[in-house]
Amino acid sequence: MPSSSLAAQPADPIVSVRGVSKTYAGGFQALKRVDLDIRRGEIFALLGPNGAGKTTLISIICGIARASEGVVLADGFDTARDYRQARAIVGLVPQELHTDAFETVWATVSFSRGLFGKAPDPAYIEKVLRDLSLWDKRNNRILELSGGMKRRVLIAKALSHEPRILFLDEPSAGVDVELRHDMWRMVRELRDRGTTIILTTHYIEEAEDMADRIGVINHGELIVVEDKAVLMRKLGKKQLTLTLRQTMEHLPEALARWPLELSADGHTLTYSFDTQQDETGIAELLRTLGAQGIDFKDLQSSESSLEDIFVSLVHKKPGARA
Ligand SMILES: Nc1ncnc2c1ncn2[C@@H]1O[C@H](COP(=O)(O)OP(=O)(O)OP(=O)(O)O)[C@@H](O)[C@H]1O
Ligand SMILES: [Mg+2]
Repeated sequence: MPSSSLAAQPADPIVSVRGVSKTYAGGFQALKRVDLDIRRGEIFALLGPNGAGKTTLISIICGIARASEGVVLADGFDTARDYRQARAIVGLVPQELHTDAFETVWATVSFSRGLFGKAPDPAYIEKVLRDLSLWDKRNNRILELSGGMKRRVLIAKALSHEPRILFLDEPSAGVDVELRHDMWRMVRELRDRGTTIILTTHYIEEAEDMADRIGVINHGELIVVEDKAVLMRKLGKKQLTLTLRQTMEHLPEALARWPLELSADGHTLTYSFDTQQDETGIAELLRTLGAQGIDFKDLQSSESSLEDIFVSLVHKKPGARA
């Protein structure tokens, strides 16, 4: 067993990132002192806009890029110092498609397993290819496959050496619904068998659907890491929408202290409130509306989605109202 003071922490993370910064050769700083623990057996989703630093962070954790500062441990192995051991327990489905065009599917995937020092296991490779609906194409050369099938090959390669940690960098980009379903079914199966999964995605519904925890990265900084449910509760806002009986031109002075928004057509009033507050303030708002003689014919409430939360986190400007 590898020994390390970080791996011995009570939470026993399978991946531990400490103070990782990355400055590229041209001087651009893509990561700024990132600290992150990935729990054993979880599905962790890393969200962030284009250029936020997701691929850079994943590449560093996988040991294929070097951090300028900081340390990463993968199951106790330092990804820079113990590169080979660390790399062997990690499977990576890269964002970019690049595969050896002239090899067959079977050869590519089997070879990949060998690269990580695993003994051949044709039965296992067969299972992986069947799970990914690639079995019929096993004797085709990569250049004869469609784009989505090539992506399946990348997944098969990443799974070929039975990794303990699987990274999926934008696995759903440019992929049809069927492959997405296959992929997410496999990911859940892998997780059930104990594999830790770290994925990046632009499909926020996917993170909402799949992930146990979510990290949001923006401009190279990890701005939040939280259990999905907690994140949604903490940052989630509910909205109460009132359809007015009579249109209003502007909000009366008596309502100025409420965070209310009047629609452009003067028909609806929207009140946003924090789901964490003990007092929502709704009762008093309704009383005040009554006292002002403002009548409404309908009242609806809705909860913000992860998408709203993400957008508000990433676009939040200092001092701006979320
Ligand atoms: N090899 C490199 N040399 C210089 N700058 C780089 C290099 N690779 C990435 N960058 C820069 O680092 C920043 C982060 O890039 P990265 O690929 O990590 O983003 P990302 O979050 O994965 O984005 P996307 O969602 O588009 O995949 C970007 O500004 C990018 O231009
Ligand atoms: Mg990327």
